[in-house]
Amino acid sequence: MAGSGPMLEVKNISKNFGKVRALRSMSFELEKGKILGLVGDNGAGKSTLLKILSGDLQPSAGQIYLESKATRFKSPADAMKKGIAIAYQFLELVDIAKVWENFFMGRELTKRIGPLAFLDVQRMKYLTAEAIAKYGHTFDIEREVRELSGEQRQIIAVTRAIEANPEILLLDESFTLLSLDGRKDIVNFLGEVNKKIGITMIIVSHDLELIKTLSHYIMVLRAGEKMFFGHTDKISIDQIVKYMLP
Ligand SMILES: Nc1ncnc2c1ncn2[C@@H]1O[C@H](COP(=O)(O)OP(=O)(O)OP(=O)(O)O)[C@@H](O)[C@H]1O
Ligand SMILES: [Mg+2]
Repeated sequence: MAGSGPMLEVKNISKNFGKVRALRSMSFELEKGKILGLVGDNGAGKSTLLKILSGDLQPSAGQIYLESKATRFKSPADAMKKGIAIAYQFLELVDIAKVWENFFMGRELTKRIGPLAFLDVQRMKYLTAEAIAKYGHTFDIEREVRELSGEQRQIIAVTRAIEANPEILLLDESFTLLSLDGRKDIVNFLGEVNKKIGITMIIVSHDLELIKTLSHYIMVLRAGEKMFFGHTDKISIDQIVKYMLP
């Protein structure tokens, strides 16, 4: 993607579900390589916004621009093609499948031997281990995902989402299940991913400490409306909470 201007611009985006106004004329911009922490109470519209940005939902009104170019995402596959990847909270991981099986689920690699196609198990294992090792982690890729800790699962989901080299990574997560150490691991990991590949990120979390530590910018939503958007330095956790509450 070439061009100037912000990586992402959202302009007057609204989304209605019948009478529910999940997003009300929302606008913001995000520069390339920055992390935006998106916070708000239950039902504030966070997931709705990410679903619109990942092609899962169509907005009722408004425009999206990628590097100043007006864009529409017809489907998640279309958004992916345009450089946007989303990692939902653990949802895309299958508990009883192994780490490497999860990594390649739905995009399995095959090899041909004569007229027959076989799963290329060796190559999938190798590539999974390599992708995970890139960020300094080592864990047994033969283990079933259900045996892993919350942060390890998170690392797999994110590593998988960034394998296709997206420009923008969206994370809709609840990190609150994590221990303090686990949270530190995730902050380090995501910060490193952001620095290493200069990827732009929008991260949804109820963990305000994590959002404060990790994000360059913070946006607070309440009942579908933008209450605050600004530099992380410009807002305290107490102020975030005030914006979140009615
Ligand atoms: N598919 C849908 N059909 C009808 N209403 C919906 C649908 N999806 C979301 N909503 C409504 O839109 C509003 C915003 O929901 P959304 O899921 O975006 O909130 P959220 O900020 O992600 O909340 P949470 O923190 O609980 O995940 C809520 O009132 C919700 O009930
Ligand atoms: Mg949500």
